[in-house]
Amino acid sequence: MYRSHTCGELRMDHVGQEVTLSGWVQAGRDLGGLTFVDLRDRYGITQLVYNMDTNAELCERARKLGREFVVKITGKVGERSNKNPNRPTGDIEIIVESMDILNQSKVPPFTIEEETDGGEELRMKYRYLDLRRPSVQKNLFFRSQLAIETRKHLASEGFIEVETPNLIKSTPEGARDFVVPSRMNPNEFYALPQSPQTFKQLLMVAGFDKYFQIVKCFRDEDLRADRQPEFTQIDCEMAFVTRDQILDTFERLTKHLFKSMLDVELQAFPKMSYDEAMNRYGSDKPDTRFGMEFCELTDIAKGKDFAVFNNAEYIAGICAKGIADEYSNKDLKNLTEWMQRPQIGAKGLVYVKYNSDDSLKSTIGKFYSDDDLRTWGERMGAEKGDILFIVSGEKEKAQKQLNELRLEMGRRLGLMDPKQFNPLWVVDFPLLEWDEDSNRFHAMHHPFTSPKKADVDRMLTGDHETMKSLRADAYDLVINGVEIGGGSVRIHDRALQQRNFDLLGFTKEEAEAQFGFLMGAFEFGAPPHGGIAFGFDRLNAVMNGQNSIRDFIAFPKNTSGRDVMIDAPSPVDAEQLNELYLALKAKEE
Ligand code: AMO
Repeated sequence: MYRSHTCGELRMDHVGQEVTLSGWVQAGRDLGGLTFVDLRDRYGITQLVYNMDTNAELCERARKLGREFVVKITGKVGERSNKNPNRPTGDIEIIVESMDILNQSKVPPFTIEEETDGGEELRMKYRYLDLRRPSVQKNLFFRSQLAIETRKHLASEGFIEVETPNLIKSTPEGARDFVVPSRMNPNEFYALPQSPQTFKQLLMVAGFDKYFQIVKCFRDEDLRADRQPEFTQIDCEMAFVTRDQILDTFERLTKHLFKSMLDVELQAFPKMSYDEAMNRYGSDKPDTRFGMEFCELTDIAKGKDFAVFNNAEYIAGICAKGIADEYSNKDLKNLTEWMQRPQIGAKGLVYVKYNSDDSLKSTIGKFYSDDDLRTWGERMGAEKGDILFIVSGEKEKAQKQLNELRLEMGRRLGLMDPKQFNPLWVVDFPLLEWDEDSNRFHAMHHPFTSPKKADVDRMLTGDHETMKSLRADAYDLVINGVEIGGGSVRIHDRALQQRNFDLLGFTKEEAEAQFGFLMGAFEFGAPPHGGIAFGFDRLNAVMNGQNSIRDFIAFPKNTSGRDVMIDAPSPVDAEQLNELYLALKAKEE
């Protein structure tokens, strides 16, 4: 027997009992007559004590234990004289009577404790050691439980889990596909699914009615803290439902997950249209934990000698509360430079400081009277001690820049409480986006998304300009500024689906070749249907107040899409390439 108890289990009640524990040596301390060892497993840490007087040979062996040795010990539970209130097992220790060294360990490349001295790259290379750290394990226990609760809840609502294939034909979701060559079909390729979108729709045609799957998806796109090339979705689809029934269903799921995992009761999720979100926050995923909403000044800020505003399509600002006294000229200069970095690309930043002594200071004071600036302040709800930050330019760009500034000020002013959760539904997205570069429309969500009912006729018969104003029956779930999920009511009619492909620039033949199977299915009694997919990794991170999803994935990729532990991707043999009818191409410098 390797163990009678775990390293996190023993308490005062066990004092006097003979126990056997197995685990990893976290640390050792040699105090001459006594040697202490902290033994760790998944459940916790227990102090072992070896006594020179009673068993010198055993004590000598204990002194030689290295970090991360795997040992099995048997001994008696004793009460500690020097208790450790920070550890659940801190009242007791094991007086060791016998010990087997089950395996030795090289000195680990970083400390395997709550806080580690290992850098990101090193921890990823030795991810199996990083995964021994309690803080990382905690994230994966959370993830496991979240998946279990998701399955329990969706099953209780009548959903069935169906596995869809991983070797498929490409599904356009806006990213590049990972492709897999087929040996048996020379010069032909599978694609890994960016999502099970078309399959779940076919399951609705098949009559499954309520489908879900916790499923891996693959997207060859640039990586960020909240994006991995392979990630997991809670993917769902329902038939014979209205949009609001879909939203209610996944609002219930979200509430259940927050209640069962965090004991947090979420209130009813507000719904906000895409247009409203853009006008109030300059973002389709606003963080509504704090205000600092946009206030447009285009109508009152023009007409003076300030050409920048006079030439701007859009002028708007935000009001940062109570910082006028503490923000020096240098701070404001730094903030302006921050806005001018290429990532944000603002030409400049206008500020109006409403000092607490009632004086005003502004970058554009020579163009505007104090009365002008006070009128702006009134509109924006500025009081003494506040600073208005104003940007201008082309509407879409200026909104994006002001959104970045709002989020940055929210961070700087500590307005993003990680323990507060503000979910909202963003609804009524545009159906199509015009892309200047490729000179064609893109689907804002994906090509299977239905326009809102009221827009169907306009979509079937309208001109080019009309297409820009079509609204989609699409929605996102946003929590604390993170897009947790997205979905839509789908097109279930062949003619409308064909029209959508036309608008997206597919020829009839291309549409048929890529999606004939789906449009064909629509001719065999496709029910009205719709669904959603939650980013499971993101949901984990947001529920834990974290930005990076990597900490919630057992074996994540780095920012170059590499797994540095197994060293993938990697070259393959010429033989293997031959078999796949692939030729090596020299890397372009
Ligand atoms: P969408 O593309 O919006 O919709 O994806 C759904 C959710 O998946 C998460 N997500 C990601 N998470 C981590 N890394 C990535 N690279 C990544 N990409 C997306 C996001 C996102 O909200 N088939 C549709 C869903 C539907 O219409 O039902 C789809 O995949 O949290």
